[in-house]
Amino acid sequence: MWTMTSETLKGKVAIVTGASSGIGRATAKLLAGRGAAVVLAARNEEKLGALEKEISASGGRTLAVKTDMADESSIRKMVERTIAGFGAIDILVNNAGVGLSGRIAELRSEDLRYVFEVNVIGALNCIQAALPHMNRGGRIINVSSVIGKRAIPKVGGYCATKFALNAISDALRVEISDRNITVTTVYPGTTRTAFRENSRRTKDEKRGWRPGGVEPEKVAEKIIRAAERGGRDVYVTLMDRIFVAGTMLMPGITDLALRAWARD
Ligand SMILES: NC(=O)c1ccc[n+]([C@@H]2O[C@H](COP(=O)([O-])OP(=O)(O)OC[C@H]3O[C@@H](n4cnc5c(N)ncnc54)[C@H](OP(=O)(O)O)[C@@H]3O)[C@@H](O)[C@H]2O)c1
Repeated sequence: MWTMTSETLKGKVAIVTGASSGIGRATAKLLAGRGAAVVLAARNEEKLGALEKEISASGGRTLAVKTDMADESSIRKMVERTIAGFGAIDILVNNAGVGLSGRIAELRSEDLRYVFEVNVIGALNCIQAALPHMNRGGRIINVSSVIGKRAIPKVGGYCATKFALNAISDALRVEISDRNITVTTVYPGTTRTAFRENSRRTKDEKRGWRPGGVEPEKVAEKIIRAAERGGRDVYVTLMDRIFVAGTMLMPGITDLALRAWARD
């Protein structure tokens, strides 16, 4: 059920990539609930259309735009439609992403290239297309992962894309600081979405959900806070923060601990 809550983002225009599912869908709903006009970008038109209807029926302003993050011209057109519909961009949530499972020794380069196209080049193209339309107070929010801080076995290719996204965030933050546009990186841990189902596989790695994980709404709440206030690095749970801090402080011990994970 979608409701208009306190309208802290009234008058703002937001783009959410990967809005058809999971974290992006939850984020789009919360942004609309705070009064932002929201552009819903993803490939699945049916799902985007249903979300567009839901938001509109509750009094929100929204526009669904079919977008393929692996296609630069598709991203450019999505940004053009945003400007035609709403006139500016205040918030860009680079959330669209695809996973890739497989051991480094077995990864296919074409799979890794595709995942980089979506997770890194797609986000870069969104930033480059949106920036000329962003004013002071703008927010760029990139959705990374805790395993974009410490790579783990069997998903190393995916981790590499998130490390690359972090690097883009860090350089960009400083480059555009005099424009008063903030760049936030969000590092979710395991989240209950269709992400693993949707991931590319190298061989026949298992699908299905691991126990635990937070609901996508919890990640979306953190993204909304970043949209309201900015911020640099955002973690969703205390355990995520502890995981990252621990792996940074004790990389060798982390290697040893992860060996068991790598075995099965
Ligand atoms: N779930 C987790 O445990 C977890 C943990 C840490 C970080 N993350 C990150 O969170 C983000 C959202 O993932 P999620 O968990 O919400 O997974 P999800 O439910 O699978 O959603 C992924 C979204 O990305 C979109 N997408 C994928 N490929 C695309 C493409 N080529 N063009 C346009 N959109 C594309 C999908 O839309 P279409 O298929 O309609 O195009 C979908 O809306 C990702 O960046 C992911 O890496 C997830």
